[in-house]
Amino acid sequence: MQTIELTVNGEPLKASVDPRTTLADFLREQADARSIHLGCEHGVCGGCTIVVNGKIARSCIALAVAMDGADIRTLEGLSDDPSIVQLRDSFHTCHGLQCGYCTPGMLITARDIINRYGEADEAFLREALAGNICRCTGYAGIVKAVQHAAAELTKTRSNLK
Ligand code: FES
Ligand code: FES
Repeated sequence: MQTIELTVNGEPLKASVDPRTTLADFLREQADARSIHLGCEHGVCGGCTIVVNGKIARSCIALAVAMDGADIRTLEGLSDDPSIVQLRDSFHTCHGLQCGYCTPGMLITARDIINRYGEADEAFLREALAGNICRCTGYAGIVKAVQHAAAELTKTRSNLK
């Protein structure tokens, strides 16, 4: 066992971990981060996407022991984030989810895309979201939702100027 200290959703966490424990299992079990959904467990489907030190990452292919000192955000810790608040609303409005299994990973990836690129066309978004698989194949609604969220956030930001 190895001791690590990290920050999860703004809270300090010290834990003793088995060197083979994945970050996804660690966060689900030790930080109650149930928004992390495991699908492929091979870094392919995007269901386990989280934010590590400000960058999106696949928690199924990272080891918890490598996270000593890291600042981690899961969807639970982004509930008041303006982009996530808008994305949640847009996914509802534009029918961006069906069973919802892929949704947490989609929201985190979409937030990253919007924060980095703002508004984007469908072709760009389909490519940027290609690392997140929706087993319900609801991509049309998902892309529409991300475009809707980006447009609404642009409006909000320009109204604040
Ligand atoms: S479960 Fe991590 S990428 Fe699929
Ligand atoms: S909504 Fe079911 S997997 Fe995407």
